Amino acid sequence: MINSSVNDCKVIQLPKIHNPAGNITSINNRNEIPFSIERVYYLFDVPGGESRGGHAHKALQQLIIAAGGSFDIVLNDGLQQRRVQLNRPYIGLYMPSGIWRELENFSSGSTCLVLASHKYDEDDYLRDYSRFSEWKLSK
Ligand code: TYD
Repeated sequence: MINSSVNDCKVIQLPKIHNPAGNITSINNRNEIPFSIERVYYLFDVPGGESRGGHAHKALQQLIIAAGGSFDIVLNDGLQQRRVQLNRPYIGLYMPSGIWRELENFSSGSTCLVLASHKYDEDDYLRDYSRFSEWKLSK
């Protein structure tokens, strides 16, 4: 979505099945999230305090979860910026396409789980912020 705004990024409370022996959260296509999952990937072994992820996607939608530990996501739509901290495995951040993101302040040993609407495609990436800004303004 070329005209997406940081306000279209939604913090989603996911269902939690309580069990004293360990909780379960499940996520189903088009139920808890507004897209079908085509790919799952996760970041792990990120050194504590590390940052990554300066890019945007032209079409990809994602749900980002701190499956372990915590990190911040700094969202930018070319006009507005917003920071979201993720620190619970039953909270997800839904990201439409067209949002620049940076991931910051990883706690050591954290896991960033990403559910994505498409397979990996380098052509879907905008990796240069000024190109991203121009693309957003071309709408
Ligand atoms: P990238 O999405 O740029 O991660 P970050 O912005 O957090 O550093 O991915 C880093 C590299 O990993 C990139 O060169 C391509 C590769 N990659 C895949 O091959 N498949 C994937 O599903 C992902 C997410 C990345």
